[in-house]
Amino acid sequence: MHRFLLFLISASSWASFGTSKIIHSISDLQCSEYDFIIIGGGTAGSVLANRLSENPHNKVLVLEAGINNAGIQDVQVPFLGVTLPETSVDWNFTTTPQVGLNNRSIELARGFVLGGSSSINFMAWNRGSQDYWNSFVTATKNQMWSFTALEKYYRRTSTLVPPADGRDTTGDVDPTAYGNGPVQVSIPGFMTEIDNRVTESGKILGGRFSFIEDLNKGKTLGFAYAASSIGNGTRSSAATAYLEPILKRKNIDVLISTRVARVTGHAASKGITHIDTVEILQNPGDIPHQIKASKEVLLSAGVMGTPHILTLSGIGPKKVLKNLGINVVVAAEDVGANFADHPLVANYFSVNSNHTWDPVLRDPSLFAADLSEWVNSKQGLFVDTAGNTYGFMKLPHGFADPSTGPRSANTEIIFVNGFAPFGATIPPTTGSYLSMLTAVVSPTSRGTVTTVSRDPFAPPKIDLNIFTTDFDISAMVQVMKDARTLISASPWDGYIIGPFGELANATTDDQLATFARNNAVTVNHPVGTARISPDNARYGVVDSHLKVKGTSGLRVIDASVLPQIPECHPQALVYTIAERAADLIKADHGLL
Ligand SMILES: Cc1cc2nc3c(=O)[nH]c(=O)nc-3n(C[C@H](O)[C@H](O)[C@H](O)COP(=O)(O)OP(=O)(O)OC[C@H]3O[C@@H](n4cnc5c(N)ncnc54)[C@H](O)[C@@H]3O)c2cc1C
Ligand SMILES: *[C@@H]1O[C@H](CO)[C@@H](O)[C@H](O)[C@H]1NC(C)=O
Ligand SMILES: *[C@@H]1O[C@H](CO)[C@@H](O)[C@H](O)[C@H]1NC(C)=O
Ligand SMILES: *[C@@H]1O[C@H](CO)[C@@H](O)[C@H](O)[C@H]1NC(C)=O
Ligand SMILES: *[C@@H]1O[C@H](CO)[C@@H](O)[C@H](O)[C@H]1NC(C)=O
Ligand SMILES: *[C@@H]1O[C@H](CO)[C@@H](O)[C@H](O)[C@H]1NC(C)=O
Repeated sequence: MHRFLLFLISASSWASFGTSKIIHSISDLQCSEYDFIIIGGGTAGSVLANRLSENPHNKVLVLEAGINNAGIQDVQVPFLGVTLPETSVDWNFTTTPQVGLNNRSIELARGFVLGGSSSINFMAWNRGSQDYWNSFVTATKNQMWSFTALEKYYRRTSTLVPPADGRDTTGDVDPTAYGNGPVQVSIPGFMTEIDNRVTESGKILGGRFSFIEDLNKGKTLGFAYAASSIGNGTRSSAATAYLEPILKRKNIDVLISTRVARVTGHAASKGITHIDTVEILQNPGDIPHQIKASKEVLLSAGVMGTPHILTLSGIGPKKVLKNLGINVVVAAEDVGANFADHPLVANYFSVNSNHTWDPVLRDPSLFAADLSEWVNSKQGLFVDTAGNTYGFMKLPHGFADPSTGPRSANTEIIFVNGFAPFGATIPPTTGSYLSMLTAVVSPTSRGTVTTVSRDPFAPPKIDLNIFTTDFDISAMVQVMKDARTLISASPWDGYIIGPFGELANATTDDQLATFARNNAVTVNHPVGTARISPDNARYGVVDSHLKVKGTSGLRVIDASVLPQIPECHPQALVYTIAERAADLIKADHGLL
């Protein structure tokens, strides 16, 4: 269709491919054909870019809609991570009005920047439980995805480094649970007065509240110091860990501020469509340019972008394609389906302390002092995320357990040493606070991401369908009560004054449920919109080797393939899947 446009970008040949750099304009691309085209320079895409360009004979192109991460201080400073949603590095997605939230719409953040969501996330680093990965085997009928078989790929992703304060961490983290890859992981480097209260309470209460030394050893249950993707007091993202170090390679191009509209190809054997072309544009209304991939197109545009691009390419639910007037290339009902996220409620308590970070957010001179401490010495409050400790719990007996097994959680509590503005409550201008962020990590509600326009710049319709099952809302109520139980343990004596705001009036289960519906957001952990399934299954979007069913030359590698929502923070799982995928791709092309 736009074939003539190929000539615009094919003027220079590979022989003249110069020093690679981050490119801002399509006209600066040095080739019209690459071996591998990676759609999305995010978490998974950056891993692929690194691994596939190790061999200097592979020409690799990364296409990223967002901006460059380099030099953005708020991205680098761990403490400021929570300020990134709804800024220049966010896609600013909004859900439809949610019945389960009394018809509120909520914002869902996604990274619009190199490194993708790993450049804007809250950095918690969880490997996923043995049961989660074993459920992946069940979902794919392929042993390649077991906890044990993936071990070497997990270890390729990251390395445990000392915390910023260099203290002795014996007993607070287990070094044997980490590997030797590029992402730097550490436990908190600026201890606060609530951290030991949390872990001591776990030790005193035991049972469902037990302390655990490390959550990255196959069991994601217990209260612990948070391992985070932070090194030297600085965010370690897919961009800083995997992409920046390889920009000097001559065989990789990274084109930013560029949207992929769709992928195309031609009919191959047995009703299979071979995908070898990617259409890109930089501004709404531009005529798309086409670029060719001689080996594979790798779709890593994330849980919103991936189903959007698949649908615009004719790979999606028949009815959706018909409504849009797009020819069916592959009828795939699960594109955009199975969308799941972790609901989150912020529970605020007034505390008897002068050492929370509330004054820092209220007083520009205190803020400036902490920032300059970070700039000058990479020490102090700003070296950590907002949450130094957290706990993953099972629900009490009597509840259903939809998690993947005995080593996976149902709920989570994140402890924040100040008023963390999540949800509807307006930050108070006086007082000191503890925020306990309670989450349901084995939710049973499922939503959809639906493409509603042929304009590649139009956002998809996002229906989380949050809190539409009894399990999800009653699990939230239970974890809100569990949070209160934890702070009733002796380490908090004299510290807690009482619940703050509307929470003070919520005592019955119904009142807690109403508070949750009026205040919940999500942890920004969505997955599932291009789910993996067994090779011969008619459902699912990709086969067990991540190839899009009904096509050749096209794989999906990002959080959208996850067959169910992990009962933990998902970034380490995405890195692990991308490392595994890189070897699958190399093997298929004789490059291992
Ligand atoms: C605010 C926030 C907090 C989070 N906190 C944590 C946490 O503490 N711990 C944790 O483990 N996880 C956390 N997560 C989740 C985690 O970051 C994600 O699950 C993970 O990064 C997803 O990786 P991905 O490769 O699937 O997608 P992404 O990393 O989002 O990458 C997708 C990339 O594709 C690009 N793209 C999309 N569409 C197009 C297009 N049409 N053309 C070109 N490029 C396109 C995007 O701009 C993006 O760069 C958080 C996420 C957010 C947003
Ligand atoms: C999200 O909103 C911010 C702030 O308005 C803006 O700078 C940014 O460009 C928006 N993101 C996108 C993808 O439009
Ligand atoms: C939410 O919207 C639906 C559909 O418009 C309506 O029936 C329902 O009463 C609304 N609920 C609330 C709590 O406003
Ligand atoms: C971290 O800091 C140490 C000491 O300042 C330095 O030796 C090391 O190179 C730094 N690492 C990175 C990845 O910047
Ligand atoms: C906080 O500071 C005020 C004013 O200096 C003091 O009166 C109060 O006792 C302090 N509270 C705590 C818990 O240290
Ligand atoms: C709690 O309920 C009382 C009585 O209904 C009301 O006066 C008060 O404003 C409520 N407090 C908050 C913080 O909502």
